[in-house]
Amino acid sequence: MIRICPSILNANFDNLPGEISRVASSADFIHLDVMDNVFVPNFTFTPERTREIVQSSILPVDVHLMVAEVDSKVADYSSENAASITVHYEACADPRQTLRDIRSLGKRSGLAIRPATPIEVVEELLESIDMIVVMTVEPGFGGQSFMESLMPKVEKARNYLDQKKLDDVWLQIDGGISLKTIEIARQAGADTFVAGSAVYESKDPAEMVRKLRFLASNCG
Ligand code: DX5
Ligand code: ZN
Repeated sequence: MIRICPSILNANFDNLPGEISRVASSADFIHLDVMDNVFVPNFTFTPERTREIVQSSILPVDVHLMVAEVDSKVADYSSENAASITVHYEACADPRQTLRDIRSLGKRSGLAIRPATPIEVVEELLESIDMIVVMTVEPGFGGQSFMESLMPKVEKARNYLDQKKLDDVWLQIDGGISLKTIEIARQAGADTFVAGSAVYESKDPAEMVRKLRFLASNCG
């Protein structure tokens, strides 16, 4: 199962419902990048605005919290239409508890790691994780280049999941996914893909999502 999650970070914030509807026919989730200008040097949405966007979305939302000291803040950013909430390992004082808190909100729990964070940190947390997120750019901005050097991390994560037969844990790649890079990421073992600029800079975002899915589904 391949999942494509367009990120609206580089879309038109003044018309997010319209931007989301442009991909609704072919995307699985909308990926919402929430930045607090502390964990990353950029700001996108307050907790209230995040809840508003999520509730008005016609697609289920994959909420990516790039928020410092996030353990006590997860519930503020959560709302009914959020399918999953991803926190950063580097922003958690107690990642295991925070992942459990996300599940107790009825959401899939995501754990993201920055490029410099070793994949080994997720191994002992696997029983609390529904989605591992390997950042293939430094978090904070869309439109950056895909860090192909991180594929060994993705391969290791895939090995963890396969060895432990964790078939319902998803492995997401976030950053620099395009027609040129999605097959590399798929072949390293990812099954879920965020794509921001590749989708919203294309003339037909819904068609771009279909093309990305086709490549990921047919590269063996
Ligand atoms: C970066 C965000 C990514 C980014 C992806 O901090 O987490 O989701 O928006 O955008 P592209 O696909 O343009 O790298
Ligand atoms: Zn993201």
